[in-house]
Amino acid sequence: MEVRSTTLAYSGADKIVKKLKEISGGKILDIGTGGGGFVGFLKQALKSFDSFIGIDLNEEKLKKAEKRFGTIAQFKKMNAEKLDFQDETFDVVSMASSLHHLERPEEVLKEMFRVVKPQGYLIIQEMYSNLTQTEAQLTTLQDHHFGAKIDTLLGEYHRETYTKEEIKGIVSILNAEELEIFDSTRYPKCLFCEEKEQCDNPMDKELIQSQIKYLKSSLEKISDYPEYEQLEKEAKKIEQDLRKNGITDASILFILAKKN
Ligand SMILES: C[S@@+](CC[C@H](N)C(=O)[O-])C[C@H]1O[C@@H](n2cnc3c(N)ncnc32)[C@H](O)[C@@H]1O
Repeated sequence: MEVRSTTLAYSGADKIVKKLKEISGGKILDIGTGGGGFVGFLKQALKSFDSFIGIDLNEEKLKKAEKRFGTIAQFKKMNAEKLDFQDETFDVVSMASSLHHLERPEEVLKEMFRVVKPQGYLIIQEMYSNLTQTEAQLTTLQDHHFGAKIDTLLGEYHRETYTKEEIKGIVSILNAEELEIFDSTRYPKCLFCEEKEQCDNPMDKELIQSQIKYLKSSLEKISDYPEYEQLEKEAKKIEQDLRKNGITDASILFILAKKN
């Protein structure tokens, strides 16, 4: 079983950024924009851009996005299953870390494809759950899946992350002229981060501590649920594993689909 290095220089993230530097973004729509993090990344990574619109269902997150990126993007509450835009409106339609948050991913992909212009791009970034990852990544995945259980109890759709094969299966419904799929052990945004060396060390104490704090605060959200006791046990095990194996984000697929 091949386990690839998560050191940024060997991750494959540079190939993604090299490709993005060739794309003039024009008018960009970001789906499931959350706090707008992917807008911030695309702004730096693309060759150029004219405008950004970010959409999400979560108003709290949209407010945060507005604060961080309000000067370069407009943010709107909208359901990605029914986009309020005409056909062929955008040069690029993007979506990061959201596929496993969608109840009907195929419906969303169809909508994304509908609103992108011919010769425009869909850009999809999604972490995957295959076991060909380092112990630190697998522990981080367990931690993420724990978070998905908490969100589900709280009524938000959030399933475990897909495997690479499942992600490829979902995007295969797109009738793309060109489909390029990059596999990277690190997020390409890391290349722009000022603390990039910190994440090259999965055993970084500060990162582990902050993740454990987040794990505990997630658990507290369901303190009066009948599932609390069981999940508390799971949280303890994850905490032990985080201390032993460290923390590193899971690997990602980065998909570029060009519309004909
Ligand atoms: C993990 S967050 C994505 C964060 C962001 N893209 C980033 O990279 O920082 C997933 C987002 O998908 C949003 N979402 C889920 N279903 C949606 C839908 N049908 N329409 C729009 N947004 C949706 C959630 O509200 C959540 O903010």
